[in-house]
Amino acid sequence: MPDPRFVTPPSSLERSSIPAHVAIVMDGNGRWAQRRGLARTEGHAAGETALVDTTYGALSLGVKALTVYAFSTENWRRPVDEVRFLMNFNKGLLERRQHELHEEGVRIVFSGRRDWRVPKGVAARMDEARELTKKNKVMTLNIAFNYGGRAEIVDAVRELMTDGLSAKDVDEAAIRRRLYHPELPDPDLVVRTSGEFRTSNFLLWEMAYSELVFTDVLWPDFRREDLFDAIGEYQRRERRFGGLDK
Ligand code: IPE
Ligand code: IPE
Ligand code: MG
Repeated sequence: MPDPRFVTPPSSLERSSIPAHVAIVMDGNGRWAQRRGLARTEGHAAGETALVDTTYGALSLGVKALTVYAFSTENWRRPVDEVRFLMNFNKGLLERRQHELHEEGVRIVFSGRRDWRVPKGVAARMDEARELTKKNKVMTLNIAFNYGGRAEIVDAVRELMTDGLSAKDVDEAAIRRRLYHPELPDPDLVVRTSGEFRTSNFLLWEMAYSELVFTDVLWPDFRREDLFDAIGEYQRRERRFGGLDK
């Protein structure tokens, strides 16, 4: 993998308005494989190169946080073999990549529920990667795993109640503080690959004012150039946050 320090992003990108937080719905793995006459799982495997290249692209631009949707709370509905593959694949991905990401100063964190369905071996690798990289400051890679936007809000509300807040103390800040990663800014840009125009329960609270970019590229084909294109589109948007001025 090329060193991100030697990768020059296109000069057309405005360096002063790089999104601080980019989030990606990595979709289209199954279709990528099917178009090649391969098993769907081959598409998931091919997504690893896309993820690593995109991470380097984000690093080369100075993006501070990259959240990627790896497994949703609804993905348990898939055939058991595919679910089992995805569990092992994500475990293997951490084993294979955590050290090089650590060397680049990437802090690896996870958003999602640690329920009984997440195999112990996978949870152990997640803890290991988080522990190894916890002091890193260059960029946060937030892997949304067994993640659902509704589950995240439910978990925050449960915590509000455990903390004994009364109704008058419940406001947006109180909820926000109890999301999985309150230290991360809301995503400025959310990208979804594979030509689907929906959120599929991703970052429901956090994407209230995100710019959304959809691309037909299937996730295994996605590379840093596609990230640069999405950021170019983001930079042509005018964000208003409900007001009239930028
Ligand atoms: C995204 O690719 C990966 C996961 C949801 C884990 P898909 O597996 O959803 O691929 P398509 O959408 O069926 O092509
Ligand atoms: C969203 O993709 C979840 C991930 C990319 C992990 P899906 O493929 O599961 O979403 P739907 O089913 O098309 O909405
Ligand atoms: Mg899909």
